[in-house]
Amino acid sequence: MDFYEVIEKRRTIRDFESVEINDDIIERIIGAGLKAPTNDHMRDWHFIVLKDKQVVLKLLDVIPKGISDEDMERLIKDWNLNDPTQQACYRDAVPKQYRMLADASAIIIPLLKQKVDIMKPANLSHLNGFASIWCCIENIFLAATAEGYACNLRIPLGDEDKHARKVLGFPEDYFMPCLIGLGMPSKDAKIVEQKEINLKERIHNNMW
Ligand SMILES: Cc1cc2nc3c(=O)[nH]c(=O)nc-3n(C[C@H](O)[C@H](O)[C@H](O)COP(=O)(O)O)c2cc1C
Repeated sequence: MDFYEVIEKRRTIRDFESVEINDDIIERIIGAGLKAPTNDHMRDWHFIVLKDKQVVLKLLDVIPKGISDEDMERLIKDWNLNDPTQQACYRDAVPKQYRMLADASAIIIPLLKQKVDIMKPANLSHLNGFASIWCCIENIFLAATAEGYACNLRIPLGDEDKHARKVLGFPEDYFMPCLIGLGMPSKDAKIVEQKEINLKERIHNNMW
């Protein structure tokens, strides 16, 4: 697939077919992640690949399985989601947080070595490791797209990171930025509409 076609095709997918994904494909996808730019030249990233449904269900146990209409309306109000396109994204995504991972063919847990407390960075450089792994995550998403698969991601909320550490046993000095669901889009997978961006308005030549 042409590079720009991959860019266009990569979309967050939260509705998956029930299919297996083989380890060679997952390896190629993670290999692409490991080619991403890195702050300290070390790429001290590890990946836990989960296919065992029993472990998956244990890991996801703390993620809400849905949301009531009232809670959804409250969330829209509390988070000041005033834009209709943005609202539509949340209305599709929030109820699917559990299912999009439970139905994935594999969950990939990216982990980065974090030397300082990520929640208390003293300067911007302290976030470099965090920034780098997001470059890696984007490569994973693009490689998955090129392979004919798709991804979603969840940022761990509350104590979900502590729970993941307990279930998966990763060391204290490794940090989980997100959970990635990898799978084959179902035939009716929802592709949420995005806001049109006027490129020319966003590019400022020489000065804002
Ligand atoms: C930093 C970051 C955090 C995100 N958090 C979540 C999340 O917790 N749950 C979720 O379903 N999607 C999450 N997403 C996916 C976005 O909802 C999605 O990328 C956005 O709506 C644009 O849609 P697209 O990926 O299809 O282009 C996140 C994306 C990013 C980059």
